[in-house]
Amino acid sequence: MKTAIYPGSFDPITLGHLNIIRRTSTIFDRVVVCIMPNAGKIHPMFTREERVELARRVVSRFPNVEVDTFDGLLAEYAKTFPDGAVIVKGLRAMSDFEREFQMALINHKLNPSLDTMFLTTEHQFMYLSSSIVKEMAHYGADLHGFVPDAIID
Ligand code: PNS
Repeated sequence: MKTAIYPGSFDPITLGHLNIIRRTSTIFDRVVVCIMPNAGKIHPMFTREERVELARRVVSRFPNVEVDTFDGLLAEYAKTFPDGAVIVKGLRAMSDFEREFQMALINHKLNPSLDTMFLTTEHQFMYLSSSIVKEMAHYGADLHGFVPDAIID
């Protein structure tokens, strides 16, 4: 079984994430959305449990997608899949590339059987991020079209 791990902090999950999840679910037999800590984002808006709950709510429509969480290295988490797994990441602008390229190389160094594949964003999600969604929410902006309807409240 071909498994894709789609890791991220998902604080919160956006329509851009969901687009990558949907497309990945058509390529791989199984997709595991893994909610992980990002050492650079030490004060998430939502607790880990809340982020898991929000993600589960929006991926429930995909029969081969599940949500998990892991508090450690992604390279170690991937080892928990006996048949192997690949990491899938979404790429928006070039500004994502350098960091993602670095993480892909580090993960491969830490776990040589682990590869990373990238899906390019669809253009309407190019400038969408969890951070901008949080800022919009802070000012009371309408979040329709940015995050899944099921989690706007
Ligand atoms: O959505 P994000 O915040 O860009 O996702 C980043 C994330 C969580 C995938 C990344 O920080 C991560 O892989 N964290 C787990 C710890 C790890 O393996 N770090 C990379 C190698 S040091």
